[in-house]
Amino acid sequence: MSMEGKICMITGANSGIGKATAIGLAKMNATLVMLCRNKERGEEAQKEIIELTGNNNIDLFICDLSSLKEIRNFVPEFKNKYQNLHVLINNAGVMLSKKNISADGFEMNFAVNHLAPFLLTNLLLDVLKKSAPSRIINVGSAAHRMGKIDFEDLQRENKKGRPMGLYGSSKLAMTLVSYELSRKLEGSNVSVNVVHPGLINTNLGRDRSSTSKGFASKFFKSPEIGAETSIFLASSPEVEGITGKYFTKKKTKPSSKESYNEEYAKRLWDISLEMTNL
Ligand SMILES: NC(=O)c1ccc[n+]([C@@H]2O[C@H](COP(=O)([O-])OP(=O)(O)OC[C@H]3O[C@@H](n4cnc5c(N)ncnc54)[C@H](OP(=O)(O)O)[C@@H]3O)[C@@H](O)[C@H]2O)c1
Repeated sequence: MSMEGKICMITGANSGIGKATAIGLAKMNATLVMLCRNKERGEEAQKEIIELTGNNNIDLFICDLSSLKEIRNFVPEFKNKYQNLHVLINNAGVMLSKKNISADGFEMNFAVNHLAPFLLTNLLLDVLKKSAPSRIINVGSAAHRMGKIDFEDLQRENKKGRPMGLYGSSKLAMTLVSYELSRKLEGSNVSVNVVHPGLINTNLGRDRSSTSKGFASKFFKSPEIGAETSIFLASSPEVEGITGKYFTKKKTKPSSKESYNEEYAKRLWDISLEMTNL
């Protein structure tokens, strides 16, 4: 399959599933926009992807997605250089067990896994609509089933830092607003779907300042397998027009009951607008 002429943005494209997704789409001749937080790691991955695939249309932007200001600075930079965006893959994510607070004062799992893709996507909607048919792919997680939306304690500040609680709740929030966005985008030819990539050996949960192995196990699969559903949703004609679904192993599957609560989704959408000053 050829993705020649398609501009695809991938967040967190220097590691794990994001890098494997970038390699897969680069092999199909897509033009890639890698969005990474660390210049050195980003450049290393960019070089590796170009060497491996022979595709030179691999661009790199640096942006720390835990900062709303950096996202706001990045978007006009991108729009100055590109007129179109056909695929946006919100892949970057963290799984932090200890409470970390972002520069904007948000719990870090909530900031990176929910607020960042929410703001980035909303700021890119004009160009996605202009480039339609276009596709938004949000990398969620089966852990959303362990999450909870409590409007009195949205960032789970009153809970002890159980990793899957904080992480799962941020992924549940992301799933709820993804479905809300798919309803808002009805008739626009811009699709929004959520992916669970499987249990994959990556750097997720690894504390870069220590030797912690993070979220890894010999039973987990490779990043290449983890990237398959994102690549499928980005490129396959089979999913043209399919929106508001949860995918795993290239197939739709129901997400949790709570994730389909439209009242929660609308309320969370409005709160997220306020939190990101949209
Ligand atoms: N691995 C699994 O089993 C699994 C299961 C379900 C869902 N997922 C989801 O899959 C996605 C990809 O994760 P992965 O498993 O491939 O983990 P990974 O190897 O740790 O990759 C995560 C990527 O996100 C980037 N990132 C993290 N915080 C960022 C920030 N503040 N600003 C910009 N980029 C940031 C990382 O950059 P650095 O390299 O600079 O840290 C890295 O490129 C995540 O959304 C994750 O929640 C993974």
